[in-house]
Amino acid sequence: MLRIEHLTVGYGDGTVLDDVSLIAERGQVVCLIGRNGVGKTTLLKTVIGILRPKRGRILCGNHDVTAWPSHRRAAAGIGYVPQGRLVFPHLSVYENLLIGLEASSDRPTTRIAEMYALFPKLKEIANRAAGKLSGGEQQQLAIARALVAHPKVLLLDEPTEGIQPSIVDEIAVALQAIQETGKVTIILAEQFLDFATILANYYYVLESGNVVASGHADVLSHAEIHEYVAI
Ligand SMILES: Nc1ncnc2c1ncn2[C@@H]1O[C@H](COP(=O)(O)OP(=O)(O)O)[C@@H](O)[C@H]1O
Ligand SMILES: [Mg+2]
Repeated sequence: MLRIEHLTVGYGDGTVLDDVSLIAERGQVVCLIGRNGVGKTTLLKTVIGILRPKRGRILCGNHDVTAWPSHRRAAAGIGYVPQGRLVFPHLSVYENLLIGLEASSDRPTTRIAEMYALFPKLKEIANRAAGKLSGGEQQQLAIARALVAHPKVLLLDEPTEGIQPSIVDEIAVALQAIQETGKVTIILAEQFLDFATILANYYYVLESGNVVASGHADVLSHAEIHEYVAI
């Protein structure tokens, strides 16, 4: 579903990721794990088209999207939840979800109801300004805003960073429900193993700009991953 081939990307003359390759099959949760600063966000920004690679290709389904602008990638089904749960603070929860719908969506009410079923808390607070919500509620909204457009690939950048444990559990339940549909490929960037373990089918461990270990969740040992993420 998503294939990254020999990606080299950085800022200015600097290189952050050097010759990184990755494959995510349809319906899989692929976890990109590594310490702060290894380039997880850089990779996701390159997949959505905010950053341009110096070398390499990005393929989504049958399309080579490397030269495509971000909006075209979004229209082709790549959804993105940036690090730091960015919501429109002065708009209500409901209005934030409306903005997440792609322009052509013909059944906005059904789509938004789906998101309320997935994140019941959002229904209760539908008319509140997003800026007044807790960090965890904002993160649920940010994820729902990406999912409401029915993406084929969902890029999630550290969705549990700084969020209270009870809400982390709610987010995990919602993402597991998405995973069970088998329709959405999730690329999850994480620094810590605990949340990743709940969802990941496959791991890519990043260190110093490279993939230093990768493997199926049943095969790659936590001890091996810990070697690269332990602080
Ligand atoms: N806009 C930027 N300009 C220059 N360097 C950046 C920029 N954003 C990130 N970096 C650098 O790129 C490296 C990787 O950052 P990032 O992708 O944010 O890592 P992670 O998400 O894994 O914490 C870090 O060394 C960081 O300082
Ligand atoms: Mg990051």
